[in-house]
This record gives sequence, structure tokens and C-alpha cells, in this order.
Amino acid sequence: MYVLGIETSCDETAAAVVKDGRKVLSSEVASSLKFHKKYGGIIPEIAFRMQLETIAEVADSAIKEAGIKLGQVGLISVTCGPGLLGSLLVGLSFAKSLSMSLDIPLLGVNHLHSHIYANFLNGAPSARLPALPFLALVVSGGHTSLLQVDDFDDIKILGQSYDDACGEAFDKVARILGLGYPGGPLIEKIARTGNPKAVKFGCSDTKNPLDFSFSGIKTAVLYHVCRFAGLPVSRLNRMTKDVAASFQDAVIEALVRKSLAACRGKKINRLLLGGGVVVNNSLRERLAEEAKRNKISVYFPPPELCLDNAAMVAGFGYALFKKGKVSDLYLNAQPS
Ligand code: KG4
Ligand code: ZN
Repeated sequence: MYVLGIETSCDETAAAVVKDGRKVLSSEVASSLKFHKKYGGIIPEIAFRMQLETIAEVADSAIKEAGIKLGQVGLISVTCGPGLLGSLLVGLSFAKSLSMSLDIPLLGVNHLHSHIYANFLNGAPSARLPALPFLALVVSGGHTSLLQVDDFDDIKILGQSYDDACGEAFDKVARILGLGYPGGPLIEKIARTGNPKAVKFGCSDTKNPLDFSFSGIKTAVLYHVCRFAGLPVSRLNRMTKDVAASFQDAVIEALVRKSLAACRGKKINRLLLGGGVVVNNSLRERLAEEAKRNKISVYFPPPELCLDNAAMVAGFGYALFKKGKVSDLYLNAQPS
């Protein structure tokens, strides 16, 4: 069965065709990132205007690239939340129109849950796919959530960030350090030549030990950097690298410690990762190492499927459709 996925929850306009929930036949992503860069973050108005202009073209190229005809699509799977309201409405309106005019079933799916499904696309043979139940850590620009997945339609929140999301903290710290946007890849790059033990940063404690808080560490970086004023450029460069490395180290420490604690607490030894921050190699390496020591199998999607894409939306839609889920034309955006 061919599923057309549509994803417009943030700045991307993405469409993909996935066969039988596994094989990615096409995955097109158009980003309006360059128009947001000078503001240091996503401007919703700019995002959804660009999405409105590009959605039909992006979907058309996904169909062409997959080598199929629109009439062969058996399901349209679309992100209905969480995300930016205007952006979600663009994807939803497009998906609904297509569904109604061509009489193709429609299904609205959760963006965070789709990130987890990226682990099931392409690559590994079925026998090596993680068995249910498993735990999942989704770390993106908008969310940080530890989830228990008993089934694809039975997902519970064990912990989440109640202030900044992890990727958001990377973005804000990069801005403090004058690096640019999006901050995650830029921090990772300069952290490679910095000393992760140079500054003692830490993530704040949380009442529920599986929740996350990244707002305090971001403020700690800001106060630390205020002391840089007037330093010669050579020392400034060194200290910027050290701050980036120390910040990244502290964030990864919290992500790894809490994920493994959740696995131990729930006695589930399979952990799946998803979301843009999972592109980070230090996170992947540290988690793989610690998980091995704790006899936990950890799964990462390939980097291009960690960032927002529509293949994960198509794949996850297929898994839910197989369980009898389907939406009607009253399907609405669920921004939070
Ligand atoms: O999942 P995603 O593409 O979009 C959302 O659903 O939010 O994630 C984007 C986030 C941004 O905050 C970006 O800075 C972060 O992922 N990111 C990274 C890296 N690459 C992207 N964070 C840390 N290290 C990276 N290499
Ligand atoms: Zn995302």
C-alpha cells in the first residue's frame, strides 16, 4: 500500500510516499529556514505563507519521485499537531481536499509519535526491528518527551520538559554565543574542539525525575558569557568553544541519565530515539555506550529521518491505519 505523508508542523513543507510502512519511495522537504535566520527563530507568519505557496508543488514532486500515480495512493497521512497553528492548517486543508476529491482515506497523526516511527523506515530487516513495548525519547526544537509505547495507538508520557525544549535550548545558547540559527549543529561543531569539563553547567532538578528542564542551564550560560566582555579575541574563541562543549555535555548527561533511569524503572530494555537533536553525534555515541553498559538496546533513525520529514508521517499513518484508525473531514489542527 502506498501512503502519501504530509508534514507542515513547523517551517518545513514536506511530502513523502512510503510503501507498506517501511520503504521510503520519496521524501521531499522544502524549508523556509533562510527567511527566518535573521530573526534567530521561526516566524509563524513567514512559515505558513511559504507553505501555502509550496505545498502542492512539493506533494507533486513526492508522487513523481516515487514513480506512482496519485490514484494509486491508498492513504493520506497528515500531521495534525503539535505545531504552529497556521502551518498545521495548510497541511490539513491540502490533505483534506486531496482526500475528498480523490476519495482516498485520510488520517491525522501526532508529530512527536511520528518521530519515533522514523526508526521503522528503510534499513534494518523486520527481524531486527524493536519489539513492542519500548520506551522512546523524542528531542526536537519544540519538545523533549520520554514516552512509553505499548502499541502505536497506546503511547503514554513518562516525562517531558516543562520549560524550554532541548533543541530550543541549543538554539538559544547558540544565539547567546553569537553562532547563528539553528543552533544545534553549530554548537555541536565548535564543541568538538572545546573542553566539556571547562565549565560546570548542569540541568535543573525536576520534581518528577523523568521530566526535563533546560531553561536554567540556558540562563547559566548567559550569566557566564556576560563575564567575557572585553576579553581579547583569541581567549574569547577558546572560551566560546569551552562553553559550547560544557553546555552540550551537561544536556547530554541529563538526556542519557533520565532515559536509562526510565528503562530501568519500567524494566523495558528497548529505547528508541527521534527528533532533530538526535542528529547530534555526541548524544548518539554517549547513549549507545551507556545503553550497552546497561544491557539496553538503543535505536537511532538515520540523521536525515531525525529532522522533520513526511516519510515518518506516512509510515506512522500506515501503522495506525492497519489498526483501524481513520479520520473524517472534521479533522482539525491540535497545536499543543
Ligand atoms: O525535529 P526537528 O527537525 O523540528 C522540530 O520538530 O522541532 O528539530 C529541530 C531542532 C532544532 O532546535 C535544532 O537546533 C536541533 O533540532 N538540532 C540539533 C542538531 N541538529 C539539529 N541539536 C543538537 N545537535 C545537532 N547536531
Ligand atoms: Zn519534529
